[in-house]
Amino acid sequence: MPKDQEIEKELKKIKDEVLACEKCPLARYRRENGFCPVIGKGSHSAKIMFVGEAPGANEAKTGHPFCGAAGKILDELLESARLKREEVYICNILKDRPPQNRNPESQEIKACTPYLEKQIEVIKPKAICALGNFAAAFLMEKYGLKDEIKGISKIHGKTFKIGAITLIPLYHPAVAVYNANMKNILKQDFQFLKDFSD
Ligand code: URA
Repeated sequence: MPKDQEIEKELKKIKDEVLACEKCPLARYRRENGFCPVIGKGSHSAKIMFVGEAPGANEAKTGHPFCGAAGKILDELLESARLKREEVYICNILKDRPPQNRNPESQEIKACTPYLEKQIEVIKPKAICALGNFAAAFLMEKYGLKDEIKGISKIHGKTFKIGAITLIPLYHPAVAVYNANMKNILKQDFQFLKDFSD
C-alpha cells in the first residue's frame, strides 16, 4: 500500500477509536451535548505538529482544532512564520471538550493521550510544538524531560532534541487574545519554526 494511504488508514483508525472511546466522562459529555470530537487537522506528512490543550466550544461544535479566538491568533502566528495551516498538523492532548473549558484532569490526560501518541507515531513530525503548560508537561514527561518541566514562562521557545524529534514548548495562543505583548513574544518564538518545515 502506498505510504500516504497507509497513513490515511492509520489516522482513520485513531478517529474511529476516539469515536468509540468510553475511557473518560468527556466522551459522554460530548454525546449528551451533540459535540464532535476534535481529532486533529492538517497535513498527514507534516514536519511540524502543534499540540494544544483541549477543544473549546467552537471546536466541539465543528470538530476542527483552533477555530475560535485562539485559532485566529494561531493563524496570525503561522503567517508571521511563513507557515500555512495546510502544511502543519494541529491537534490537542484531549480530543473532547471539558465542561466550561476547565483545565484537563490528570485521569483525562492519561485516558486520551494514547491517541496523541499514535498520531505522533503515524505522522512522524520533525518538530512538536507544545502549546501551553498542559501540552508541554505531558510531552516533556513522555520524552524523558521530567526534570526540565517548569512553568511555560520559563521554557517557552527552548528546543529539546529527542532523537529525530525536536520538542518546543510555546505559550498557548489564547494568552495573546487580549495581550499584544504576549503576541509579540509568541511571534518571536515562532520565527525559527520555518527551519523545520522541509
Ligand atoms: N485551545 C486549544 O488548546 N485547542 C483548541 O483546539 C482550541 C483552543
